[in-house]
Amino acid sequence: MAGTETRHKPLGLLAELTHRCPLGCPYCSNPLALEPRDGELDAATWARVFKEAAALGVLHVHLSGGEPGARRDLVDIAANAREAGLYTNLITSGVGITTRTMRDLWEAGLDHVQVSIQDADAVSADRIAGYRGAFQRKHALAAEAVRLGLPLTINLVVHRANIEHISDMVDLALKLKATRIEIAHVQYYGWALKNRSALMPTAEQVSRAVADVEELRSKHHGRIVIDAVVPDYHARFPKPCVGGWGRRSLNVTPSGRVLPCHAAESIPELEFWNVRDHSLADIWASSPAFNAFRGTDFLPAPCATCERREIDFGGCRCQAFLLTGDARATDPVCHLSPHHGRVAELAAVQEDMAYAYRRM
Ligand code: SF4
Ligand code: FES
Repeated sequence: MAGTETRHKPLGLLAELTHRCPLGCPYCSNPLALEPRDGELDAATWARVFKEAAALGVLHVHLSGGEPGARRDLVDIAANAREAGLYTNLITSGVGITTRTMRDLWEAGLDHVQVSIQDADAVSADRIAGYRGAFQRKHALAAEAVRLGLPLTINLVVHRANIEHISDMVDLALKLKATRIEIAHVQYYGWALKNRSALMPTAEQVSRAVADVEELRSKHHGRIVIDAVVPDYHARFPKPCVGGWGRRSLNVTPSGRVLPCHAAESIPELEFWNVRDHSLADIWASSPAFNAFRGTDFLPAPCATCERREIDFGGCRCQAFLLTGDARATDPVCHLSPHHGRVAELAAVQEDMAYAYRRM
C-alpha cells in the first residue's frame, strides 16, 4: 500500500514556526498541548527543511503558527524559503508583525499574505480573538501588504457568533482590497473541539449562510474570489481531508515533528518522526505516521465497496478517531456511516458558555 502511494509527491508544506500567539481564538487548530518556545527549530534547520521540501516536489510553503510574527527571525526564514524556490505564503493574525517587518518580508521575496479576521466590527472581532485592538492592527497590516503590491487573502472562520455577518465581512475584505476570501466553517479539533457547543451554529444559520455565500459570489463576481467550504457537521459526504493522508501535504510542528495533517497528534497510536533526526524524504516515504492510512485499503465498510472512496478517502482520519475512537473508521460526517447519528446529535448542541480561549 505505502509502496504505490509514495509515488504521490507532496505539493504543500505547512511550516508551524511557533505556537506562540498573542490572540486566543477559541477555534484554533493548534493542539491543546502547545509547544514551548525553547523547543522551536532554528532558522538554519528550517532552511534545510525548505531545501529538502523543494527537492521532494513541494511547490508552496505556508509560514504559519501560532503567529509567525512571534519569531524574531521570520524575515530570514522567509528569505530561506524563497531561496529554496518555494512560493512563500505568510499566514498571520495581523498582530505581532509591524509595517516595517512587512516591508522586510516583501524585500525578502514573500509572495502572498493571508490575514485572518474574526468579525466585521471591532468589538465583536476583538472579543472572539480575545485581544483588544486586534481588529485595527489587522487593518493596518493588510493595508501595508496591499500597498507593497502583495496579493492579499482574507481568512474568515465562521461559527455561531459571526455566521450572520458573512456579507459584512466580504464587504470588509473588499474594502481591504483583498483579491480572495476563504470562508471556512470551524473544524472541530484541538481548541475548537473544546469549545464545540459554544461555537456550533444552528442548522438554520448554516443553511442561510450557504445561500448567502452563493448570492455574494454572483454579486461580487470579478471583484473578489470567494472560496467557501460546507461545514462538516451539516454535510452529507465528508471532505477529502488534506487531499488524502500522506498524499499531498506535510505539516511540520515548531519542534520539528512531521505530521500528515495539523490534527494528527490527536490520534494516539501514531508515531511521528522529527526533521532533527530524519530527512523530509525519509519521513514522507517511511515514517509510521505517514504510512498509517495511505491509500484506501484500510477502509472498512461502507467505504470498502463505495465508489467515492478514491474521491474522499473515507473522510478525515482525525475526525473518525475523535468521534468513534477508531481512526480507520468511516468519517461519521458521511451519511452512510453507522455513526452518522452522533454527528447530527452534536450539531444540535448549542450552549451559551464562555469561550475557553487558546492560551499557552
Ligand atoms: Fe466516502 Fe466512505 Fe461515505 Fe463512501 S461510505 S461516501 S467512501 S466516507
Ligand atoms: Fe487529520 Fe483530517 S484533520 S486527517
